[in-house]
Amino acid sequence: MKLDLSIIESNLETQLIGRPQGSTNELWQTIDSTNTRALSLAKEGASAGVIVLAESQTAGRGRFGRSWVSPPGAGLYMSVLLRPESLQANLPLLTIASGLAVARAVDFSVGIKLGLKWVNDLVFAGRKVGGILAELQRQQPQDQMSTASRSSINQAIVIGIGINISSKDIDLPSELSDKAGWLEEIVQGNVDRNVLVSQIAYELEQVLELLLSNQTLAILNAWRKYSATLGERVRALIGNDTVEGLAIDITDSGALIIQTRGGMQELHAGEVSIKKSDGSYC
Ligand code: BTN
Repeated sequence: MKLDLSIIESNLETQLIGRPQGSTNELWQTIDSTNTRALSLAKEGASAGVIVLAESQTAGRGRFGRSWVSPPGAGLYMSVLLRPESLQANLPLLTIASGLAVARAVDFSVGIKLGLKWVNDLVFAGRKVGGILAELQRQQPQDQMSTASRSSINQAIVIGIGINISSKDIDLPSELSDKAGWLEEIVQGNVDRNVLVSQIAYELEQVLELLLSNQTLAILNAWRKYSATLGERVRALIGNDTVEGLAIDITDSGALIIQTRGGMQELHAGEVSIKKSDGSYC
């Protein structure tokens, strides 16, 4: 089924996300990137809560400058504009929290428990099913801002969410075919993306409220339950060093704690590979 904004909006159980004051949600048939669009809406002063969706992207972006293959009908491509007040201290946790929100949304609306590979990759049976790209809109220098925008516009953050839905109508690049997982293949049935979008909006709002009220332990504990990383042997790059060890926990700020032969190491940014039973990493 095609994405339909009126269906999504009528299903929303949120106060903020998908209900931006004075701005409108957008659905594009094709766009370069929903994140790029949401960032430019932020620059134009759009309100918090705007959702940008697309049936396909021509320049979908992933983390670390990678591209995100986004053909029509194959995925969910969604960005949400946030302007969180007083979140500075908990900003690193927003990444953890967004992954958790999407995992919960898939769990409750599709009935599949995806795992979270630190920091917020969504995985199933060692295959990547989704990912999140959080991007910060740099604040304009004070002297270039009007008094009105200085007082009313908070720093913007765009949460970009990509979820693989179905590969049946697409020719997958070979580097993806053995690494990617698809929701409809996992559930062996149809996934209603309209329902999924409203559920993501709801779950995102829930974690945002927890963060804004400093209930970070609730986020960390829920993330631990969905984790596909803790208790696994992992490999990661810290600075120029490749570190291998056992992922044992996350810190209060969301860093991954790895027990290596040389002692404990904390990973604050980057990504990890998980060791499979055949000794290879995925
Ligand atoms: C990752 O590398 O795991 C993050 C992928 C994020 C992809 C989504 S699709 C919707 C939004 N628009 C983009 O250009 N990227 C994000």
